[in-house]
Amino acid sequence: MSILPIVLFPDPMLRRPCTPVPVIDESIRRLAADMLETMYAAPGRGLAGPQVAVPLRLFVMDTTWKEGTPSPRVCLNPAILDVSDAWAENTEGCLSIPGIPAQVSRPDWIVLRWTDLDGAERTERLTGFDCVAAQHELDHLNGRLCIDLMDEASRTAASPALAALGAA
Ligand code: NI
Repeated sequence: MSILPIVLFPDPMLRRPCTPVPVIDESIRRLAADMLETMYAAPGRGLAGPQVAVPLRLFVMDTTWKEGTPSPRVCLNPAILDVSDAWAENTEGCLSIPGIPAQVSRPDWIVLRWTDLDGAERTERLTGFDCVAAQHELDHLNGRLCIDLMDEASRTAASPALAALGAA
């Protein structure tokens, strides 16, 4: 396994919609393992394909490892099947936008379907931080970033820091 370079905002790679993972082969398995290793080393709780310059619809996440209980997930071709009417606001960070926390509101549960590395279709209702992380990572596959969803106050507060990262 190896640690991959993380693509940083405002690299246009982060804005490219990704294409489906066509087949699960050795290169995808190696990529997923490298993405997990890269995420843990960063350290972070989620990492999507475009963040390592791979414009494919996959992400890895592990929302519990920092508390001592690893729960790695590799999600290929994920889709949201249902969302709650109720929304919740959380502070999100992104490995591609270091040092800029974003206050973001999202549905507070989702039903996520994805294919795992064994090719099995999985469907799970996600809540709490799993729910936030899965939506954040899935947005990456559509070229959308958490800073796009910030409320007005945090956008204003973050604008000097975003400008320092090279945003227009
Ligand atoms: Ni991110």
